This record gives sequence, structure tokens and C-alpha cells, in this order.
Amino acid sequence: MRIMVVGGGGREHAIIKKLKENKKVEEIFALPGNGGMANDATLVPIGAKDLDAIVEFAKNNAIDYAVVAPDDPLVLGCVDRLEEIGVPCFGPRASAAIIEGSKVFSKNLMKKYGIPTAEYRVFESADDAYEYLKDAPIPTVIKADGLALGKGVIIATERDEALAAVRSIMEEGRFGKSGSRIVIEEFLEGPEVSVLAFTDGTTVCPMVSSMDHKRIGDGDTGLNTGGMGTIAPNPFYTEDIANNCMQNIFVPTINAMKNEGREFRGCLYFGLMITKDGPRVIEYNCRFGDPETQVVLPLLESDLLEIMMATTEGRLSECEVKFSDGAAACVIMASGGYPESYKSGYPIRMDESVSDHVYVAGARLEGNELLTAGGRVLGVTATAPTLEDALKTAYERVGRVDFEGAYYRHDIGKRALGLKKG
Ligand code: AMP
Ligand code: GLY
Repeated sequence: MRIMVVGGGGREHAIIKKLKENKKVEEIFALPGNGGMANDATLVPIGAKDLDAIVEFAKNNAIDYAVVAPDDPLVLGCVDRLEEIGVPCFGPRASAAIIEGSKVFSKNLMKKYGIPTAEYRVFESADDAYEYLKDAPIPTVIKADGLALGKGVIIATERDEALAAVRSIMEEGRFGKSGSRIVIEEFLEGPEVSVLAFTDGTTVCPMVSSMDHKRIGDGDTGLNTGGMGTIAPNPFYTEDIANNCMQNIFVPTINAMKNEGREFRGCLYFGLMITKDGPRVIEYNCRFGDPETQVVLPLLESDLLEIMMATTEGRLSECEVKFSDGAAACVIMASGGYPESYKSGYPIRMDESVSDHVYVAGARLEGNELLTAGGRVLGVTATAPTLEDALKTAYERVGRVDFEGAYYRHDIGKRALGLKKG
């Protein structure tokens, strides 16, 4: 089979490496991919949002199956366009991707179907939001309605900060059109858990749970990032909580989407917070998470391509989706300065013994040399029977990768290990 993967980060690299385990796979094209994947896929310089070029490429290159990984093309209707020319896809159509594309949609969906989430109000005018904020409880959480490169959420711990957030999103257009409507919601507290789930619109198969580490600094300090490391499974996600989520969140969400005529096929990401009153949905994503995928897929024992195709064809219930009982860890190595300004173009040196365990996010090839080309450069991973060993091996491997100014957190998984030792 000839497969096309739309996207170009560490998540896509993890997907590509896993797909290659299937003997039926002849060639994988990454659109656009990045230089760090050149050994695993054929790189095609077409941007993930350039739907016309993606469709043209699929048509001219006898593509048998497409995996659309990032949020933007999904929300723009990449799957709809590829299906029109007869290319089966993994990923939701635009009508279902709206579950991530519009926070107003997802909040209203949860309210309508009684799915537990933070209390909220929707505002279409800044004046109404200011009025509400005069005596709203603080801290409060302000979210731009649309996609905002993962930056559209502001947690305001002071009233002035909340007012300033509304001004910047609604009046100054900080996130463009994405901020013409906002959600203001209740601030929740508790450990966060990410659960990715395969679904064909009827059956839902949750994958092993995971935990992201979003802040740049050790001890969860400093600015928010795209994610500095992940571990799986997440020890806060106990069997009781998993059963609760299946019954009160996962199945109701899939059924709600179907009932709305927006059947969701693909990977649905549940961002959960385990509050003292039980699990709550913080956000839905219409795709695999990054860097969650880098720890979840290495633990998948079943064949990814088989599962994906069963998802597309609506026969997920017939498919085995099995995860190992072990643990996985991923440590992100970033360019010094990220998430603020940083320099790129530094050579990446990597011991051959670790390259199979590295998922590259931001790099480019110049001749044979791999150079840094992004904030988050790569993720170094390991699996092991225990989380402790997975972390130990991942950090040992980090020691065998280097580039100028490389920065990484030293405490990935520490909180999870603390809980386990409790
Ligand atoms: P999101 O971009 O929706 O993933 O939100 C980014 C982060 O903001 C989440 O991972 C949470 O840590 C935090 N967050 C979002 N909504 C809430 C909320 N209602 N209460 C507390 N924290 C939140
Ligand atoms: N790791 C969070 C996300 O993929 O949005």
C-alpha cells in the first residue's frame, strides 16, 4: 500500500514509524514531514493546510490510504476533499472536527448531552464579557472559540488579567477570527489526564492514558509550551476513573456526535481533569495529541494500520486494540530560548543506537546533515516494564543526542513517580 501522512511533527513521525511495522506498507509519503524523518518516509514539500495540493498529490501518486494528523487540515475539510476523489482517510470530516475547531460548539454539545465539564458562558461582544467579569469568580478561564495554535486559553488569576485577556482576544484580534467569540469558564483544579481514543463513530476504544508536561521549566514553572514531555500510563487515571470516563464521557460523546449528524471517525482526544467531584472534560481535540502520541503508540501491540482502516470502514468492534502493560516516557529536547525566541540551524548529533527511539519534530536536512529547525526539535523516548525504568532509559538516551543550546526538562514523570510510590 501507498500511504500518505499529512503533517510534519514528532506525532507524525511516531505514526509513520508505527505504520511501517505493517508488511503491506510499500511507501509512506509525508506532507510535508521534516528532515528528521527522511529515513522513514518520502518527504513531499506540500504544506498541511494546502488542501488543493494535497488532493492533487493523492490523485497523481496512486495513494491508497491517507492519515490526516494535524487539527488545521481536519477542521478545513481535508478528509472530505480526499474522500471526494475516493481516497479513504483516517481522521474526522470537517463536520465532526468542529469538536476541536469551535469551543462554543463543544461546550454546547457537552451541556446538551450532560457530559461533565466546567460551567461556562459564551460571549459575542467584549462589553458583555466585561460586564460579566465585574463579579465573576476569580481565577477564571478565557478561551478563544476557534483554533489558536494551542495558545487560545488564558487562565486569569486576577480580575484585571481577565479583562485584559478579553480586550486582547476580542478587541485587538490576538487570535484573528478565532477570537470573535469567547468562552469564559469555571476554573477547575486537579491532575490532568490525556486519553486518546480510536472511534469509528459507534465503537470507542480508549488507548493507554498519558500525562503531558506543558510548562517550560522544571517543577511546572514558567511559560506554557506545546508540551515538554509525556509519560504513559498516567497513574492518576485509576481503573475506577477509567470506568467512570467510559460511561459518562467517552460513550456519551460518541453518541452525541452521531445524534447531531456529525459522526466522528478517527482519533478523539479527551483532555480531562480529575477534580474532587470527578472527571471533567477540559477540551476535545479531533486528532492524536503531540507529544502524547510519542508515548502511546510505542505501547500499542496491535497493528496500527489495521486499526486505522477498521476505524475508517466502521468495523472497529471487530478489531483487536491491545496495549502493553509496560510504561513509556518521552523527553522533548528544544532549542534554547523556546517558547520565546530561539536560534535554528545547529547540527544535531545523535548516536545511532538511539535513533530508533527519537521522533523528530523540528529539523531539516542540508545535504546529509540534520539541522535544528524549530522550537521543539525532537522527542527522545523509551519503553520499559515500569515507568521508573522507562524514564531512566529515556534520560540516558537524551545524553546521546546533542545540539547547540539544547534544552530539556529534568523532571519529566517525577510527579507521576511520586504518586506511584505515594
Ligand atoms: P487547552 O488549550 O484547552 O488544552 O488548555 C490549555 C490548558 O489550560 C489545559 O491543559 C489546562 O491546564 C488549562 N485549562 C483549560 N481549561 C481549564 C479550566 N477550566 N480550569 C483550569 N485549567 C484549565
Ligand atoms: N498535547 C496537547 C495537544 O496535542 O494538543
